[in-house]
Amino acid sequence: MTTTTTSPVLTATGVTMRFGGLTAVQSVDLDVHPGEIVGLIGPNGAGKTTFFNCLTGLYIPTEGSVAYEGTVLPPKPHLVTQAGIARTFQNIRLFANMTVLENVLVGRHTRTKEGLWSALLRGPGFKRAEAASKARAMELLEFTGLADKADHLSRNLPYGEQRKLEIARALASDPGLLLLDEPTAGMNPQETRATEELVFAIRDLGTAVLVIEHDMRFIFNLCDRVAVLVQGQKLVEGTSEVVQSDERVIAAYLGTPFEGAPGAEEAAEVEAAEAGASEAGATTGAPQDETQRGTTARTEDGQ
Ligand SMILES: Nc1ncnc2c1ncn2[C@@H]1O[C@H](COP(=O)(O)OP(=O)(O)OP(=O)(O)O)[C@@H](O)[C@H]1O
Ligand SMILES: [Mg+2]
Repeated sequence: MTTTTTSPVLTATGVTMRFGGLTAVQSVDLDVHPGEIVGLIGPNGAGKTTFFNCLTGLYIPTEGSVAYEGTVLPPKPHLVTQAGIARTFQNIRLFANMTVLENVLVGRHTRTKEGLWSALLRGPGFKRAEAASKARAMELLEFTGLADKADHLSRNLPYGEQRKLEIARALASDPGLLLLDEPTAGMNPQETRATEELVFAIRDLGTAVLVIEHDMRFIFNLCDRVAVLVQGQKLVEGTSEVVQSDERVIAAYLGTPFEGAPGAEEAAEVEAAEAGASEAGATTGAPQDETQRGTTARTEDGQ
């Protein structure tokens, strides 16, 4: 369901991230509306994870702003989580020596109001809050299919279940927007399909989702809208159908230049010059065709 008439949960405006001379993300605008699942795709090194890091306060963007439900967020991870954005990481980040349940409880702490003294004195308020947190964490483990592993150490879970546990932990902060960075990386087809169902269920319970993935079938099945990042810039944004059939997207993945790409002008000039030379060759009858093809192929490979 695409609900473009409602006000966005996420508004990223002109987000730019530079590392020294490298511009990893350049003037990216992106909105996510309530009830939406939005995909973010692009070749390796396109800037997808860097963009997530800018959204979640892990990086302070060089330029631009990030707003949650219309309020601009300070670039501090705990404040971003508190506001309502949760995430998972491309490289799983769990507490390996804690149990599955404890990992989810850690994700819950931004939503518990009991203070330090209450925790130290373990008074009735703390015990009530602790019981409520535990009940909510168990609910999330049921939801993600990990309830029977609640007491296992997280490091003993198979890889696919560790990814699910990351999602359960992120959901523990009751987010309005969940950011998933390659949630199906390393999964087999059955696990990928189960993750697809899980993301739909998360959306159906009222959490909007922004997801990075290289698995195109997963992305195009799942997403109401897809944005394509190439060399830090948003190249195309639209429905799965629109994005799938966009020649620039195909070109970006195949590594061939697209109109407006850095270097595209030079490549066009080379092509034009070659076409001219080829025509000249044809009129003189000189056997230049093979040479020309060889030159063109080398030019494309070098992009
Ligand atoms: N902390 C950093 N310092 C310097 N350069 C960085 C940093 N983080 C990312 N980069 C660079 O920014 C660019 C974008 O990287 P990023 O990890 O965001 O890509 P990605 O789209 O997530 O790629 P992948 O699909 O491989 O995960 C890369 O050239 C990367 O080397
Ligand atoms: Mg990445």
